[in-house]
Amino acid sequence: MSTASDETVVSAWQVFSPSAFEGEVAFVTGAAGGMGFETARAFAACGARVVLADRDADGVRRAAARIPGSRGVALDVADEERVAHVVDEVAREHGRIDHLAHCAAVITSQHSRTADAGHWRRVLDVNLVGTFAVAQQVLRHMEPAGRGSVVLVASDAGFRGGGGLICDSAYAASKAGVLSLVKSLAREFAAKGVRVNALVPGPSDTPMHTGVPDDLKKRIAANIPLGRMGRPQDMAAAILYLCSPAAAFVQGAALDVDGGLMLR
Ligand SMILES: NC(=O)c1ccc[n+]([C@@H]2O[C@H](COP(=O)([O-])OP(=O)(O)OC[C@H]3O[C@@H](n4cnc5c(N)ncnc54)[C@H](O)[C@@H]3O)[C@@H](O)[C@H]2O)c1
Repeated sequence: MSTASDETVVSAWQVFSPSAFEGEVAFVTGAAGGMGFETARAFAACGARVVLADRDADGVRRAAARIPGSRGVALDVADEERVAHVVDEVAREHGRIDHLAHCAAVITSQHSRTADAGHWRRVLDVNLVGTFAVAQQVLRHMEPAGRGSVVLVASDAGFRGGGGLICDSAYAASKAGVLSLVKSLAREFAAKGVRVNALVPGPSDTPMHTGVPDDLKKRIAANIPLGRMGRPQDMAAAILYLCSPAAAFVQGAALDVDGGLMLR
């Protein structure tokens, strides 16, 4: 069986032109993390002005420092008022928001035998209610402009459920909610010229899995038809595609980027 080796992982800016997003503004959440940072970097490399947001204040400051011309802002997406404030600030500063790549999320792995309602609320608060809050605030600015693209990051767990090797029922349900949210928003905002889609990553080697032992990562990779876990670059490239004019007719889609995991 041929496998996708590291050499096949290309960065988005090797595919998109350096001016693909010239003059446009991208707001990226979870940008201190693996996929968010790579997405922010890819947007910037393709000409966009980028604002990075993350709950990890030091991490997002360090991430923005690595991307010339970008700005990092501390933001807990579960804090609805702060979300509205930060998004308004971005719109005021740049006069527009063209793209939202919402990558912020937490992963949890509690067995349903012991997970209580408080655990579920905490996960849903960040991964689903927080996703809604960020999308709603950004869409408030995109709708009157009559343009924009929103990518909400879901997970294969949203389709397949949790309770397996790395994530639990609450996380999986939150991501199923994101998939449904994308369909609703895509339907509601299509007539306004705003596109809304989901990226559906499979298991990917990012800081989210820092605590996962190497032998477990190997087992996970062995179950993926293309023979490896995802990389942040895979996800950034797919997000840039969804935000680009190449995806002008893509609305309410759930784009699997999982090396074929969904075929299992
Ligand atoms: N890594 C995977 O295997 C995998 C698989 C499927 C889906 N995903 C999804 O991809 C997205 C990106 O994940 P990643 O792998 O880059 O993870 P990551 O842990 O590297 O990044 C996630 C970032 O979100 C931030 N964050 C967490 N809670 C937040 C909050 N309340 N407010 C603001 N920021 C917050 C974290 O600080 C972190 O920087 C997530 O939505 C995740 O659920 C990841």
